[in-house]
Amino acid sequence: MNKIFELKNVSVVYKSGENVAALKDVSLNIEEKEQIAILGPSGAGKSTLLNVLSGLECVTEGEVLYSGTSLYKLKERELSDIRLKKFGFVFQAFHLIPNLNVQDNILLPALTAYGKAEKEWFSYLVEKLQIDHRMNHTPGQLSGGECQRVAIARALINKPEVLFADEPSGNLDTQNGQAVFDLLFDYANENGKTLIYVTHDLEKADLAKRKISIKDGAIC
Ligand SMILES: Nc1ncnc2c1ncn2[C@@H]1O[C@H](COP(=O)(O)OP(=O)(O)OP(=O)(O)O)[C@@H](O)[C@H]1O
Ligand SMILES: [Mg+2]
Repeated sequence: MNKIFELKNVSVVYKSGENVAALKDVSLNIEEKEQIAILGPSGAGKSTLLNVLSGLECVTEGEVLYSGTSLYKLKERELSDIRLKKFGFVFQAFHLIPNLNVQDNILLPALTAYGKAEKEWFSYLVEKLQIDHRMNHTPGQLSGGECQRVAIARALINKPEVLFADEPSGNLDTQNGQAVFDLLFDYANENGKTLIYVTHDLEKADLAKRKISIKDGAIC
């Protein structure tokens, strides 16, 4: 198996006002194609861990290697390129673009990266996520669960090597939550991709082959 991520003694300290140590000396190896659930209480550092793995949050100390490359030593443009083409990210708070409609939100990463999108893949995603009837709506006109599904389609549009999902069923009812996890796992299994997600739902965590628990910024 090939190592896809290596975290070496990573600490993240937020220095806004009072210092908050969100991750404390975390070391972790992740293999290609692994499926990992991250668990832990609110404020434990789960989102911070996803953020440092995905190149979104600079580490205060330590190093994050992706396929042997130290992410935070890359030039801004090189890091953006990896994030755009290799990683998909479903944010806890969606971060959809409010003045773009659903279709444009989903297609944006594809158009930015390649100047075009695969039509069939786009249609597959929006049908699977049952948002095909909402293409011309803007995020403000959607329910929380619909926004979540749009965010998932956007994260998958570039067929990422690594899919990060921060509580991807947090706003969904049981049926839609199950459908989302089916899609994430189908994607990872059928295409041999790495899946790393945060969940508070123990049943959803059990779907992963490996579980990582975080407490007070450390893996336990
Ligand atoms: N930008 C920031 N500035 C200051 N502190 C922050 C910032 N982002 C996160 N924190 C703090 O870092 C700690 C870890 O936050 P994080 O968002 O990683 O937790 P989490 O495990 O994802 O929690 P939740 O389950 O509530 O989403 C928390 O104490 C949080 O308040
Ligand atoms: Mg979080």
